[in-house]
Amino acid sequence: MSTPKANQPALTIPPAVQHARIHGLGSYRPERVVSNAEICENIDSSDEWIQQRTGIIERRFAAPDESIIDMSEAASLQAMKQAGVTADDIDFILFATISHPYQTPAAAPLLAIRLGITSPGALDLSAACAGYCYGISMANDMVRSGSAKYVLVVGVEKLSDYVDPHDRGSAFIFADGAGAAVVGPSDFPGIGPTLYGSDGDKWDNIVQKDSWLNLREAIENPESGLTPRWPYIEMKGQSVFRWAVFSIAPIAKKTLEASGVTPDQLDAFVPHQANMRISDAMVKAMKLPEDVPVARDIATTGNTSAASVPLAMHRMLQAGDAPSGGLALQIGFGAGLAYAAQVVVMP
Ligand code: COA
Repeated sequence: MSTPKANQPALTIPPAVQHARIHGLGSYRPERVVSNAEICENIDSSDEWIQQRTGIIERRFAAPDESIIDMSEAASLQAMKQAGVTADDIDFILFATISHPYQTPAAAPLLAIRLGITSPGALDLSAACAGYCYGISMANDMVRSGSAKYVLVVGVEKLSDYVDPHDRGSAFIFADGAGAAVVGPSDFPGIGPTLYGSDGDKWDNIVQKDSWLNLREAIENPESGLTPRWPYIEMKGQSVFRWAVFSIAPIAKKTLEASGVTPDQLDAFVPHQANMRISDAMVKAMKLPEDVPVARDIATTGNTSAASVPLAMHRMLQAGDAPSGGLALQIGFGAGLAYAAQVVVMP
């Protein structure tokens, strides 16, 4: 084991802070409401089938010229207002998305410019539907270790650009929207331990159909026999469903245990809005008491991947379905397959 060299100075490190919490939450739903009937113009399905299998009645799609930066700007401004912070207070932006249309650079620095945040640490997180909960965990660690005072965590998607409207297996699930949270120092523990993990064996369960390299080959080498096509996201619905119900529901239980919270002490359960039947199965597996409010934002918002947890929690708080200051279990899971879950004190 190596030890510090003799006579060298000990490194100066920032003073740690004991606790962190979410100080403010914001959300943005695009204006355009897309009904199941509209989705069924492109696939052989029905409003009844979609509602019964997913709980989705309608979803929102962003306008063609509306970007993930536009949507996250609106959500972030709300979160910053509730937190009582200005652009000058934000040290770091963690931007969770899988629908930024540039391989590089990241979207986070663009959001910083929009919000007038000068020179923050800024990077994107690629953990699909778990991205926001990973972001909350990382922000918590950054604030507590003293490496940032206030961290802006964004979860945003414009999946209407990446889902094939003619794909019967996925066109009805995914949608667009943004959520944001400001994490900062706290007098009490506001973010419990995060349980996270991944199952790379199921990497192909939710996946971009073709790699960019295949697309390049198809365009540049017509003799390759490859068809140049947009690499839409495709999903093995049944396999994802089983994984979520059998592998992720136990994680929800363990997360509560890690925080020292029992199911009856929760003021809200906010699972990733993947599918209403998955949420119902988790509620059953956790033996969640009937009076604990469960997020059901998917009915009118669809599955917005990284945005779904903050969108759903914000709606519950605004509607008075969950109390500010109460305890919520939030859990994100999806492509990777990856997951992250924690108990938080709601702002
Ligand atoms: N409309 C109407 N019928 C459809 C259909 C559609 N869009 N897609 C499939 N079907 C039919 C199938 O043809 C099949 O018919 P059959 O019984 O006559 O052969 C039947 O419905 C069942 O097909 P299956 O693929 O088993 O559907 P399912 O019950 O698994 O439901 C999903 C499909 C996608 C709704 C479901 O698997 C699911 O919700 N998976 C999880 C997806 C998810 O949450 N993803 C996000 C994770 S982040």
